[in-house]
Amino acid sequence: MTDLNSQSLFSVKGFVAVVTGAGSGIGFMISKGLVANGAKVYLADRNAVDAQVEELKELGKQTGGSAFGLHCDVSKKSDIQELARYVAEREDHVDILVSNAGIRRDPPKGCNVLQASLSELQESLWSSPDTDWIDSFQTNTAAHYFLSVAFMPLLEAASRLDLGEGRVGKDAGRGVVIVMSSCASMHNATNVDLTSYATTKAATDHLVRLLAAKFNRFYIRVNGINPGFVPTNMNKVGEKDNIFKDLFDKVPAKRAGNEGDIVGSVLFLASRAGAYVHGINLCVDGGRVLVANGQE
Ligand SMILES: NC(=O)c1ccc[n+]([C@@H]2O[C@H](COP(=O)([O-])OP(=O)(O)OC[C@H]3O[C@@H](n4cnc5c(N)ncnc54)[C@H](O)[C@@H]3O)[C@@H](O)[C@H]2O)c1
Repeated sequence: MTDLNSQSLFSVKGFVAVVTGAGSGIGFMISKGLVANGAKVYLADRNAVDAQVEELKELGKQTGGSAFGLHCDVSKKSDIQELARYVAEREDHVDILVSNAGIRRDPPKGCNVLQASLSELQESLWSSPDTDWIDSFQTNTAAHYFLSVAFMPLLEAASRLDLGEGRVGKDAGRGVVIVMSSCASMHNATNVDLTSYATTKAATDHLVRLLAAKFNRFYIRVNGINPGFVPTNMNKVGEKDNIFKDLFDKVPAKRAGNEGDIVGSVLFLASRAGAYVHGINLCVDGGRVLVANGQE
């Protein structure tokens, strides 16, 4: 009989997870949320994560979760291959891959897109180095593809894990890729210029569906999360020169997103609760895309 208790429905206890970009912001929130709920988490980042891992090891003493740190620059296919090889030597399956690492490259010459003259607007748009576009696609889009492919065998192993009584891993939500997109993929706000970033995220949303379809036969689920404003190093909400500072109050929720919003979405998509959810993008933005289309 299905257990409808929320602790059972949303359980990730004992699950093995890999989180990229785990050293900061949303990636660390997710790692913390998973350890808080008894998962074993590999924190991968291009920067050192020793302090973060120590903090989560302490947390794990109370929750049964655990944490390990790994170096990985997800813009390099060779690093991704090495990450998958390292984890495969230690685990016979991976229940959750959170492909979260991301970058945002704003044009060096900003302008108010709503008021700039044609020449100011052109100068601002043209100031983006071509490498900003290439680097953004490498990290924000291609890395999700290579990570998902590299972890296919371990994710598939989680999906068919024998849980006893005729149940297998996929029945409990095991074997899922969660890709970090952004609500920037879903609106065409024009007062700030996020063109390269938003374009990579829109490509990522389609990648979610493409990979979900490719992985169909093995029921390795692939889903995306599209957050709105969440205070992090990338988006220092409340900072005086944050390019979004005039927009926070205009979100219908009248607040920025926080770790509860993000972790709650991950627990849903990664557990029994989300076991029937495949190939979707979940927008977690306090309603921002409802009002952001058009001018701001
Ligand atoms: N903060 C927001 O408001 C917001 C909104 C929507 C989407 N997002 C997305 O959430 C994800 C996390 O962003 P954040 O806000 O936490 O930013 P952040 O800058 O605080 O954290 C990003 C992390 O990714 C790591 N990283 C970057 N490039 C990497 C690479 N090539 N290899 C390995 N690690 C790398 C960084 O070292 C850092 O630890 C990104 O994909 C971002 O686009 C953020």
